[in-house]
Amino acid sequence: MLKYLIKGGTLIDPSQELLGVYDLLIEGDRISRVEEDIFEPEAEIIDARGLIVAPGFVDLHVHLRDPGQTYKEDILSGSKAAVAGGFTTVVCMPNTDPPIDSPHVAEYVISKANCYGLCRVLPAGTITKGRKGREISDFWALKEAGCVAFTDDGSPVMDSDVMRKALELSAQLGVPVMDHCEDNSLATGDLNEGEVSALTGILPRPPEAEDVLNARDCILSLYTGGHVHLQHLTTSLGVDIVRYFKEKGANVTCEVNPYHLLFTEEEVLRSGANARVNPPLRKEEDIKALRGAISDGTIDCVATDHAPHAQFEKGRVDAAMPGMIGLQTALPIMLRLVSEEVLSLSRMIELMSVNPARILGIEGGTLREGAPADIVLFDIKKEWVLNEETNFSRSKNTPLWGKKLTGKVIYTIKGGRIVYKDN
Ligand code: DOR
Repeated sequence: MLKYLIKGGTLIDPSQELLGVYDLLIEGDRISRVEEDIFEPEAEIIDARGLIVAPGFVDLHVHLRDPGQTYKEDILSGSKAAVAGGFTTVVCMPNTDPPIDSPHVAEYVISKANCYGLCRVLPAGTITKGRKGREISDFWALKEAGCVAFTDDGSPVMDSDVMRKALELSAQLGVPVMDHCEDNSLATGDLNEGEVSALTGILPRPPEAEDVLNARDCILSLYTGGHVHLQHLTTSLGVDIVRYFKEKGANVTCEVNPYHLLFTEEEVLRSGANARVNPPLRKEEDIKALRGAISDGTIDCVATDHAPHAQFEKGRVDAAMPGMIGLQTALPIMLRLVSEEVLSLSRMIELMSVNPARILGIEGGTLREGAPADIVLFDIKKEWVLNEETNFSRSKNTPLWGKKLTGKVIYTIKGGRIVYKDN
C-alpha cells in the first residue's frame, strides 16, 4: 500500500479545531494518523516544514465547458487548473452544450473526469430542461446519475412557481438548489449601475436585479424547507437579506467569489472585458459588506465561478461574454485578505474546504483520521506570476493575468495520490 508521511507542516483543520505543527500519515487513499511525531519507515516523506497543510479545497462553482465548448476549457485542462489551485473537488456547472439536464450527460462528465483522476468532478444538473426556466428536470434521475446539486447557472429561474417546486424537490431529495440570482427584466446591461456605467455609456445592471431574486429565493426556502444556495453574492443588501433569513431559520447558504471581494466596478477601466462578469463587480461599500460577512459567518463559502472564455469573446466590454477564470487565483486573493486581517487563515480554510463540503454533504473538507486523503499544502509567502507557463486553464481571461501573486500551492493530494506538485 502506498504511504506518504507529511512531516513538520502547520496543520490547519477547522473541522476539528486543529492548528499546530503535526505529522500526517496517509495509507492508501485515507488519512490514517495525525500526531506530533510519526515514525513510519515504509512511507515516502513529504517535507512540509514552512508550509500550511489543510483539507483540499472544494469549489461549488466551476465552468468546465465540457461537453460542447472545449475551445474554452475541457475536463482535463479544468482539472489541471483545479489541482494547481489546491482544489480536490469541484462542482461543474451544467451550462454546457448540451446542458447537463439528462443522466447521460452527467455520466459523460463523471466518467471523463474519472479517466484523468486528477480532481473529483461532481456535476450539477440543471433545474429546468434546457435551462429554459419552464419544465423541471428529472431530479431523481440526475441525482441517481451522480449530480450533487441543481442550478440553471448563467441564468436565473425567473418563474417563482418553478423555483418553489424545485425547492420542494430539494427538501425531499436532500440536494441543494443553487440559483444565479439576477432578475432578467432588470439585469439588461453589462456593468454595475454607477459612475463607471455612466462614464462609459455602457448599460447598467443594477444591484436590485440581484437582491429581488435573493430575497424571493430565501422566502421560498423558508416556506418549503428546501435548501437554497445563493450563488455569487455581490451586494451589501444581499448580505442583510441572507442574515435576516438565516435568523428566521430558512435553509439558505451562500457563496462569494474571490474577485468580488477584491475588485470594484472601476476595474473595468483598467482591465476592460476581463473585468466583465455576471453579476458585475460592485462598489467599495459592497466589498466592505461582503468582507464583513465572510468573517462573521453570514457567507458560508468561497466559490470561484471559474468561467473560461476565449480571447475573441473578450473584445469590447459591452459585447463580451461574462466571466473570469479563477481556480488558480483563489488562494492568492484569499491570502491577500488574510494579510489585510479581513479574516484568519483558519476561517479561510473553513470557507474553502470545510463548509463547501458540508453544504454538499460529501466526505472531505477534513483531516480527520479515516477521511479521504484530499489535502493541500501551500506556501503563504511564495510569489509567482500567472502567465503562459504557470496557467493550466485553456483560457486566460482575468485581470490578474501577468500580475505578481503571493501564495502558492506546493502539493495537492487527492485520494492519497499526488495530483499536483509545484515545479
Ligand atoms: O460571469 C459569469 N459567467 N457568470 C455566470 O453566472 C456564468 C458564467 C459563464 O458561464 O461564463
